Amino acid sequence: MNRSLTTIGVVAFTAALLGACQPRRAGVHPSTANAGTASVTSATPIAPILSLKRCVNLGNGLDAPSEGEWGVILGENHFSTAKAAGFDHVRLPVRFSAHAEQTPPYTIDAAFFARVDWAIAQAQSQGLSVILDVHHFNELTDDPDAQTERFLGLWKQIAERYASQPETLIFELLNEPCKNLNPVKLNALHKRAIATVRASNPTRIIMVDSYFWANTNYLRTLELPNDPNLVAQFHMYQPILFTHQGAPWMDPEYGTVGIVFPGPPSKPVQPVEAAQNSGWVRDWLKSYNTATAAQNPGGPKTIREEFDRASAYAQSSGRRVYLGEFGAINNADMTSRANYLKAVREESERRNIAWCVWDDGGGFQLLKPQEKGWVNELKQALIP
Ligand code: BGC
Repeated sequence: MNRSLTTIGVVAFTAALLGACQPRRAGVHPSTANAGTASVTSATPIAPILSLKRCVNLGNGLDAPSEGEWGVILGENHFSTAKAAGFDHVRLPVRFSAHAEQTPPYTIDAAFFARVDWAIAQAQSQGLSVILDVHHFNELTDDPDAQTERFLGLWKQIAERYASQPETLIFELLNEPCKNLNPVKLNALHKRAIATVRASNPTRIIMVDSYFWANTNYLRTLELPNDPNLVAQFHMYQPILFTHQGAPWMDPEYGTVGIVFPGPPSKPVQPVEAAQNSGWVRDWLKSYNTATAAQNPGGPKTIREEFDRASAYAQSSGRRVYLGEFGAINNADMTSRANYLKAVREESERRNIAWCVWDDGGGFQLLKPQEKGWVNELKQALIP
């Protein structure tokens, strides 16, 4: 599919309706291109979600195929260090689908469930609210029809198990819906999953991610029941060629490293060969190398446009929005990473949108739990 920076949002939108989007890890990510929403700043402040403000994702632990496989085993330190740093909540990504039976009633492994209980209890003992999300259910996004009942079966168990928990435990139905779980299928799935959760949790806050890796371009395709305790979640990795530079799980055209934030760079970056062969990447890098700071696609303008879309959705739908992931990969230089985190965090706070940075100990590393400390420049950018 031919995508360019100026058309990609629209192309992705159309492609999704046809059920043919590209995975973020295997190709093009929707750009900041405007897919139809006006560039406006929210007029009515977005109402708070409980008292959520600042969060760190405890990623690469319980969302790995098995805990430890991606180098992170959650310990008490994760929670105490998050609290001490000034975070008020954590997001707990969990790959329930890897720890449950394949046949009804899709029983979740008792030891794994107990491990999730432990993590929630740890957070609570530190006074941290928790967003519990179903993460990396890849079989579902590959084949939604075949996996719908299993997804609902998982949520029935999760919802019933935690029904008596305080309201500071929040459920997020599915991290980053993508691929074949297109907006039409996703809306139908959300409706059934919300009903499943509501049977045991009538008022708990439920977050729902927009299609295409929780992209702001797709917030407006969410069709949700009339329920004030539903919150729309989006993720923010733009400019993606900066935040995901050289990420091993991305396609080769993301391989150009040395991209700084904000652009333009003092010396033009040289695109790797695969980047030169990809129209939208080549164009983006050209613009990044040459455009002024105010117009640069690798600068604050791009971030503002993302938030404009989130704010516009909040205004038009009357629904609260939440930023569930943002971050910049370890491959980027430290100053640029800190600049980026600060710019996103400030834009989010300016709009009363609570945020959750990705992540603690993985490839977007912030936390050094073994040392009970943080990558200082990054922590400063988030919580000065
Ligand atoms: C994924 C991580 C990934 C991050 C940035 C998250 O949603 O779970 O594996 O590192 O996005 O791409």
